[in-house]
Order: sequence, then structure tokens, then C-alpha cells
Amino acid sequence: MEFSIKSGSPEKQRSACIVIGVFEPRKLTAPGELVDQASKGYLSDIIRRGDMEGKAGRTLLLHNVPGLLGDRVLLVGLGREKDFREREYRESIRAAVTTLNETGAFDGAVYLTEVPVKKRDAGWRVRQAALVAQDAVYRYDQTKSKKDEVRRPLRKLTLTVERRNELHLAERAAAEGQAIAHGMALAKDLGNLPGNICTPTYLAERAVAMCKEYGLECKVLDRKDCEELKMGSFLSVAAGSRQPPKFIIMEHKGGKPEDKPIVLVGKGITFDTGGISIKGGEGMDEMKFDMCGGASVIATMQVAADLKLPLNIVGLVPATENMPDGMATKPGDIVTSMSGQTIEVLNTDAEGRLILCDALTYAERYEPACVVDVATLTGACVIALGHVAAGLYSNNDTLAKELFHAGEDAYDRAWHMPLWDEYQEQLKSNFADMANIGGRPAGSVTAACFLSRYARKYDWAHLDIAGVAWKSGAAKGSTGRPVPLLTQFLLGRVN
Ligand code: BES
Ligand code: MN
Ligand code: ZN
Repeated sequence: MEFSIKSGSPEKQRSACIVIGVFEPRKLTAPGELVDQASKGYLSDIIRRGDMEGKAGRTLLLHNVPGLLGDRVLLVGLGREKDFREREYRESIRAAVTTLNETGAFDGAVYLTEVPVKKRDAGWRVRQAALVAQDAVYRYDQTKSKKDEVRRPLRKLTLTVERRNELHLAERAAAEGQAIAHGMALAKDLGNLPGNICTPTYLAERAVAMCKEYGLECKVLDRKDCEELKMGSFLSVAAGSRQPPKFIIMEHKGGKPEDKPIVLVGKGITFDTGGISIKGGEGMDEMKFDMCGGASVIATMQVAADLKLPLNIVGLVPATENMPDGMATKPGDIVTSMSGQTIEVLNTDAEGRLILCDALTYAERYEPACVVDVATLTGACVIALGHVAAGLYSNNDTLAKELFHAGEDAYDRAWHMPLWDEYQEQLKSNFADMANIGGRPAGSVTAACFLSRYARKYDWAHLDIAGVAWKSGAAKGSTGRPVPLLTQFLLGRVN
């Protein structure tokens, strides 16, 4: 879907459909008033008769509205004006785009982007509109024999701003929204692919292809390379799999050569059976999503290149399956990480931290400005924060605040969690430098504590995205989160 930005009266739009918001109860938004005047009270008549009261999510498509250059008007309910915030704004865009797409409209002019949202400017509204619109029309069909047939998919959306002096800002915002949405679509596609297709080798191939297309440098380390680097912890997870592990390295060099890079690290477990500490059968298929952190890093590298961000950014994705096998790591086995620290693997299902710790050590060679890792790390994080916010941990409060605000801005939220020393005690081992699990209490915190021991040489943050990376149930599928948060964070680091 393409976006164009315009300012000007709705009645003079040549679009196939003009989208107008209605507040509850029965109050037209400002562009709606203009359409109403041009149509000699047609809209207010419909509203007075009770056909559109303005309830959130309700839509009403009108044909042959008099006095307009366009063919149709789509009314979208916005709910009560005093309750209209970010969430309601996004839902109104989603409802509009879904309806336009279903009705087979080829293009539309959306005036919802002119409706004020508290504390947000036109740039925010346009960026979010582009992102939500693209997200609403996303379809996964790579492994379906019949591709989802949408009769006449929406190809062009005009997003409007009230004032001409907002045009420039809005155009940049639409480009950002578009780039983020394309990144999210890539992350979703990779996440949704099954484990038998999206293997470590496949993930690496897709990363290589993306880097080639967008002009990034890419290198893939294989098992032998990782052995030479002494990544004993990463390799201990790969030991039970027939699929060879891959360590993916992507580099975006948009900054000055002397600028320290931001390093993003993503967990790339292409399927997590639990290993010898095998998981129960129910819902295990969802462990194909255990590479969503890695996918979001690959996708964010694409967005950075797409937007030509003037930053140096490195993306690292350790990728492997976690399988039970005769060669697999067993509970009680002790492995030596690349850092030299030894780990007693008390539970082979706590494998994410075992692959991330070596990636965090690898990151030291870049003398990074900061390192942010992203991982579907713990079920405990889902218990703590549900499916709304990612868990956010950091050894630097300023970095934590930066990521928190990026999440708020992008409406892809994370909540700051503690990393206090008291929790570190739960990782004590009688036989190695540390255990890989800390017991049931505060499971997401102790997982982060484990990682913190490999991130002592730089500013570091960790996002536990176990609750937000995918949806279960009827709408099962990858969400593309936290690509918006990560991109917003990078945008905030520009200049
Ligand atoms: N990939 C899982 C975490 C997970 C589980 C995410 C369920 C989303 C839903 C991770 O590798 C894992 O298995 N973690 C264990 C850790 C435990 C053994 C300390 C968990 O959360 O149960
Ligand atoms: Mn696991
Ligand atoms: Zn896992």
C-alpha cells in the first residue's frame, strides 16, 4: 500500500472513498462538518436519524453523497471525545482500513489523521496511521496452497493534515511508518513460518538476502567459526540438533567511521522443544515463534537501512534449534561460555540465555555505544506483564528510560523491571560459576540477571518479549513487535 500526504478540503478529494470520524454521541469531526456543508446536511441527517452514533469501531459506508468529488464516504465511530487517546486513534484507523479493504475500495482519503490526540502531533498521527494501516492488511500466505484472495486490495491511502506547513513533517512521518510496517511484515513472516522451513540456515539465508537488497554488510558464522570463538554455551544448545547453528552478523554503516555502534542482539531459537528438559505437548507448536527476537533484529536492520539512518548499527542473531537427542546437553552438564565463565545447565529449557550470553560477549569487539538484546526469554514474563508490555531491564537507568519512552512513542510498550543484586543470589551453583536457572520466583528477573553477567563492559538493556511477540488463539500469529520500539529508539539516537 502506498501513502500520499495532502492538506485540503474533503469535499474536493477525488478519492474513491473519504473517511470521516464521528464522536459519540453523534458529533462530526471538523472535516466531517465540511463534508456536511458541501452535501447540504446529508451527514448530519444520517447521524440525527441514529444510523451512526459514533460508537468506537462502528463503520458506515455511504454511497452517492451529494456535493462531493469523491464517490463514497466512510463514517468511522471514534467513541467519546474525552476518551479519545492513542489506543482509540489506532483502532479507528484499523477499523477504517479493514472496512475499505473489505468493501474493495482501491484507494481512500483518510481524514482521521486530523483528529487531535492528546500530547501527539500530526507527525505522530501520520506515522501511526501508516503503520497501523499496513499492519491491518498484512496477510500470511507463504505456506497456503490458495493465496488469500482479496478482491481489490487497497492500494493507495491518502493521509491528510490540517495545515500546509505540516506537509513536510507528515511526509517524513509516513515514510517512517511505511518502513517500520515493512519491517514488521518481515518479522511477522519469519515468525509465522514453521520450524521445518524456518531453520537456522533459512533464517541466515533470509538475513543475507535482506542485507543484499538493502545494502547492508552481512556475515554468517557456522559451527566451526563458533568453535574457534569458544562459544561453548551457544554450541551446547545446538548440540542436540541435526540443523547446523548459524551466528548472523549484520552491519549498517550510516554513521561516521568513528561513531560507536549500537548493537542489537536477537534470540534466534527456530524451535524450542525444551531439549532434554522437554516441554509438555500442549501449545508446543508456538515455540516456532522462539526466533521472534532474532526476526525483529533482522527487521530493524532493514528499517534502519530503508530510512538511511545516520548511525552505525550492528545486528547479531545466534540461531539454533533446541532439541533432545543422544548428543544433546543434559541437566547438570557444565559448559564454558565465550567469556570464560562456566555454567551449570540445570534446565535445558532455559536455552535462550545460553545462546545470548555468547552473543553479548561477541558484542564486546565493537566497543559499542550500547547493546540491546531482544528475546522471547521467559514464560514468567508473560505471567508478570501479560501481552501488553515487554519486560525491560538495564544496567543503565538512562538507557532504560530511553527505551521506555521509545516504547511509549511507538505505542509498542515496555515496562522497567528491577535487576537488584538480591536476585543474583538465585543463580548460585555448587559446581560452576553460575546456574542457568534461578527457580520459580521472579523468573523473568533472574533470566535478565544471568544476561547481565555477560554485559559488564558496556551499557546494556534487555527486552523480554515473550508476551508480546505473538498472539495465541484464533488470531494466532506473529505481531512484529518490538520493531516499532527499536526503530523509535534508533530515531531518537539520530543527531
Ligand atoms: N522460549 C521459552 C520462553 C517462553 C515460554 C516464551 C512460553 C513464551 C511462552 C524459554 O526458552 C523457556 O523455555 N523458558 C523457561 C525457563 C525456565 C526453564 C527457567 C520458562 O519460561 O519456562
Ligand atoms: Mn526454552
Ligand atoms: Zn526458548
